[in-house]
Amino acid sequence: AIRSVVRGLGAYLPGRCLTNADLAQMVDTSDDWIVQRTGIRERHIAAEGEVTSDLALAAAKAALADAGLEPGDIDLIVLATSTPDNTFPATAVSVQAGLGITHGAAFDLQAVCSGFVYALATADNFLKSGQYRRCLVIGAETFSRILDWSDRTTCVLFGDGAGALVLEAVRDEADGRGVLTTHLRSDGRFKNKLFVDGGVSSTRSVGYLRMEGREVFRHAVGMITDVIVDAFEATGEDAETIDWFVPHQANRRIIDASAVKLGIAPEKVVITVDRHGNTSAASIPLALAAAHADGRIKRGDLVLLEAMGGGFTWGSALVRW
Ligand code: ACO
Repeated sequence: AIRSVVRGLGAYLPGRCLTNADLAQMVDTSDDWIVQRTGIRERHIAAEGEVTSDLALAAAKAALADAGLEPGDIDLIVLATSTPDNTFPATAVSVQAGLGITHGAAFDLQAVCSGFVYALATADNFLKSGQYRRCLVIGAETFSRILDWSDRTTCVLFGDGAGALVLEAVRDEADGRGVLTTHLRSDGRFKNKLFVDGGVSSTRSVGYLRMEGREVFRHAVGMITDVIVDAFEATGEDAETIDWFVPHQANRRIIDASAVKLGIAPEKVVITVDRHGNTSAASIPLALAAAHADGRIKRGDLVLLEAMGGGFTWGSALVRW
C-alpha cells in the first residue's frame, strides 16, 4: 500500500508584530483581557502589498529546502485559505508559478480554520491513490484584510502567516511513518456563527469577519474531542501513545479544555497562539514548524492534529512523523 510520508516542513511569518499593547491604542481593550480570554500576546501582520501567495511561497520554499527537494519534484499543490489574493485564479497557481513549476496541478481549498486538516486529508487521498507523487500542502492566510479593526470582539484574535508541508507517496513504508488517518466533518447549520459578511455573489465586496464567539466556544470542545476519538478508534492509538498534540491555535482555553477532556498531558500540547494569534488555516503548519525547529517533533513521533472553524467545519489527523 502507498503511504503519504512527511518529507519537509516550512513556515513564514510577516515581519510586523502587533502586540496587545498596540491594539489597546486602537480599540477599547487591554493586554489583561486578551491574555485572560485567549492566551494571545502578539500576532504578525502582513505588510501593505504583501499578499497570501507571498506568504505561501516563502513557506513552500522553506519546506522544499527542509525536504532537500527542487520545485520540479512537486506535482501537486493544495493550498488552504479563506483569504485568497484574488477571487480567481486560485492562490495555489501563483505559488506554482512562483516556484517555476509548469507540470502537475495546483488548487485552493476553503474550510476556514479547518483548511489545513482538509488539505492534508485531500493530499493524502490523492497520493494514496497513486495519482500524484509529491504534494505541497499549504495553509496561508492574511486575516488582517478581513478584520473590522474597530470591532474589539474580533480584531484582537487573528494574525497572518503561512506554513507548508511536503508529503511524499512511499510504497510499503517499513517504519510505519506517514498519515495514519484523517477525519473530516462539517455542519452547515452553524454557517452564521462565524462568517464574512461579504462576497462575490452576495455583496460583490470583500466584507468583514463576524463571529458569535461564545457560540463558537460552546461547540468547539465537543466537536474537537469527538473527531479525535474517531482518529483514536480508527488506529488504536490514544492520549497515552501520542507524542505531540498540535491543535488549531484559536484560543488557549479551547486548547486546554480539549486536552483535559481527552486526557492529553499538558507537556505534549504545542502552543503558538500566544505569539501568532489565530492564523486560521496556517496555524497548524506554523505550530508544527515551531515544534520541529526547536527539536520537539522528531522522526518517528506520533503527532495528533485537530482543527475546528467556520462552517462549522472540523477534523483530525494522526501522523507518524
Ligand atoms: N477587550 C475588552 N473587552 C472585550 C473585548 C476586548 N477585545 N472583546 C469583548 N469584550 C467584552 C464584551 O463586550 C463583553 O462585555 P459586556 O459583558 O460588557 O457585554 C465582555 O468582554 C465579555 O464578552 P464575551 O464575548 O462574552 O467574552 P468571552 O468570554 O466569550 O470571550 C472570546 C470572547 C475570546 C471571543 C471567546 O468567546 C472565544 O474564544 N470564543 C471562541 C472564538 C474562537 O476561538 N474562534 C475561532 C475558532 S474558529 C476559527 O478559528 C476561525
